[in-house]
Amino acid sequence: MSDVASYAVRDGIAVITMNNPPVNGLGNALRAALMACLQKAEADAAARGALIIGSARAFSGGADIREFGKPREKPDLFEVNDQQDAMGKPLVAAIGGFALGGGLELALGCHYRVAAPGAQLGLPEVKLGILPGSGGTQRLPRIVPMAEAVRMMTTGATISAERAKDLGLVDEIVHGDLLEGAIAFTRKLDSSQVRRTRDMPAKIDGDPEAFFAQVRDQVAKESRGYPAPLEIVACAAAAATLPFDEGRKVERERFNRLVNTAESKALRHMFFAERQTSKIPGVPEDTQVRPIRKAAVIGAGTMGGGIAMCFANAGIPVTVIDATQEFLDRGISKIRSNYAATVEKGRLAQSDMDKRMALIRGSINLAQAADADIVVEAVFERMDVKQELFRKLDGIVQPGAILATNTSTLDVDKIAAATTRPEDVIGTHFFSPANVMRLLEVVRGKRTAKDVLATTMKLGKTLRKVPVVSGVCDGFIGNRMLEKYVQQSLFLLEEGATPAQVDGALSRWGMAMGPFAMYDMAGNDIGWEIRKRRAVERPDMVYSKLADRICEKGWFGQKAGRGWYRYEKGSRKPVPDPEVEKLLEDFRAEIKVKPRKIPDEGIIERCIYALANEGARILEEGIALRASDIDMVYLTGYGFPPYRGGPMFHADSVGLDKVLKSIQTFQKGYQGAQWQPAPLLVKLAGEGKRFNL
Ligand SMILES: NC(=O)c1ccc[n+]([C@@H]2O[C@H](COP(=O)([O-])OP(=O)(O)OC[C@H]3O[C@@H](n4cnc5c(N)ncnc54)[C@H](O)[C@@H]3O)[C@@H](O)[C@H]2O)c1
Repeated sequence: MSDVASYAVRDGIAVITMNNPPVNGLGNALRAALMACLQKAEADAAARGALIIGSARAFSGGADIREFGKPREKPDLFEVNDQQDAMGKPLVAAIGGFALGGGLELALGCHYRVAAPGAQLGLPEVKLGILPGSGGTQRLPRIVPMAEAVRMMTTGATISAERAKDLGLVDEIVHGDLLEGAIAFTRKLDSSQVRRTRDMPAKIDGDPEAFFAQVRDQVAKESRGYPAPLEIVACAAAAATLPFDEGRKVERERFNRLVNTAESKALRHMFFAERQTSKIPGVPEDTQVRPIRKAAVIGAGTMGGGIAMCFANAGIPVTVIDATQEFLDRGISKIRSNYAATVEKGRLAQSDMDKRMALIRGSINLAQAADADIVVEAVFERMDVKQELFRKLDGIVQPGAILATNTSTLDVDKIAAATTRPEDVIGTHFFSPANVMRLLEVVRGKRTAKDVLATTMKLGKTLRKVPVVSGVCDGFIGNRMLEKYVQQSLFLLEEGATPAQVDGALSRWGMAMGPFAMYDMAGNDIGWEIRKRRAVERPDMVYSKLADRICEKGWFGQKAGRGWYRYEKGSRKPVPDPEVEKLLEDFRAEIKVKPRKIPDEGIIERCIYALANEGARILEEGIALRASDIDMVYLTGYGFPPYRGGPMFHADSVGLDKVLKSIQTFQKGYQGAQWQPAPLLVKLAGEGKRFNL
């Protein structure tokens, strides 16, 4: 046998052990080895039953997704399943750790399943824009009730071994040694108890047609933009109405169609992109990190409170320090009410809330930061305030403590220069609400030490964020690109579009929210303040004065009841405002622009290519380490649709030559001088290459 699977007979049972670390991915070699072992077990007179087992950590994590879309070697999992079905001896899966995707399909192809307590089972293929393609959609509903099978497959959620036992997916929970328990279980079975899943009827009560009509409606609503969930429902319906082999054909056809869709390619890109972000050239993965046992957060405002919650959620004690008792009390009570709201929704146990609150300590004395391993500063966005604070912290905190700033726009190197230890200073740019948003831009200063960077990246993961490295520049990766997007969104209004039209086009395309609804949510005054500062720092910058006009009227957005839209009292629903439209008309008359109708496609191209073009500069300047990091920033911090893979991946999918051509056309259009194709875009388009390798 090969090394990825071993075969042995124990107490009359053939034990097939998968040994393909780290997760027993079902790549070419393991599938071939499984096939050979199954055949051997069937022929082996010394074995009256067989079982398949993995490691304690993983039964199997499923298909090797690097093989998707590429020709695969034989046998495929399908053929392994056929061999499982052909067995005349009872075949048992012994599941420890997790059985996911193809791993669970392999277990479903066995006649029985036993599992270790706490093992996780699931079919997460939908998250990659595909469906369980090796009989999963046909077998699962023959074992667990159809509604549950559809739920598992369309959400991709995993269930515990205990829940799986209740549903009939697991026959026995093995306490103690899994292998011994599984052998004992298998020994109790004889050949009359061979139980092929394919021979069972689907578990559905009542009229399948009515059931699936209702399920289709619901899944269609929940899966806007994602093609896989509805295809999964179609396969489940086939399981209920067609013979097994025909159902498998339906599954195969739909799998093949999905795997080649742009959406699935984008979701797979995202999967890999997330795993790439922690790879930093010159900072090896085994870089010794500093221990983070205690944290301090300075500033108990919007961001400070959310950041403190992140630490408490991860079990790290945190001291929140504000300048005055009043602001501190307000901040802490906001944290408490945030947790209480989650408890009320049933998403957090009261005892967990109490544990987390107990980890958060408030103070108005900066000296309380002395024993912290990391201090995250989230005070007012002013260089003088931050520098003074860092100067003080330098004199207070223990040697080796990391000093992090949550600044969104200020120069991290200048903040670091206020200390005697710039190598310990780094930017941790959280996004609002900090306890919810997954993105964390980790800003590497000129002098930031490698182990400080590695520690902060690791901490980001501990805080359940997606940490992405950014160099120092105005706006870092995300907000620097956003500026170009904002610029275009406003130029579109100048030219003739309305906020509702721009928002409609972009949200139908998949953005979680249109730009104008987003500005109203964030507060228009925030951008106004930044523009005022920029007007001094970068007087050459061209931007639409429209946003200033809105602010001059006090239309600051949701909090003011009106902004680019109107908001009914207590509602967040944007309602188009005729007064805004009048303001737009007057403004166009003033700048002598004759309004024109702009098609949705034009809106989307202008806004999204503005992101990609600035992304190209960011990549070229080395601010971002790789194109997929930029994609991750937009996917996790800016509501970019995952099924489009991020602005850089989207540009790659369209074709960089086409993107360049569009930009060249924009150069001849309204405010065309604002469009300069990034040199990297021009170069890669010329070479027929992509941003993402
Ligand atoms: N609000 C956002 O969406 C957002 C997003 C990312 C980053 N940021 C950045 O985070 C930082 C904080 O922003 P915010 O929105 O939480 O501001 P905020 O005004 O809500 O809170 C700031 C808090 O800091 C306190 N403070 C000010 N100076 C202090 C000092 N010297 N010592 C101790 N406490 C002090 C204030 O009393 C206040 O409670 C800023 O740098 C901002 O640019 C904000």
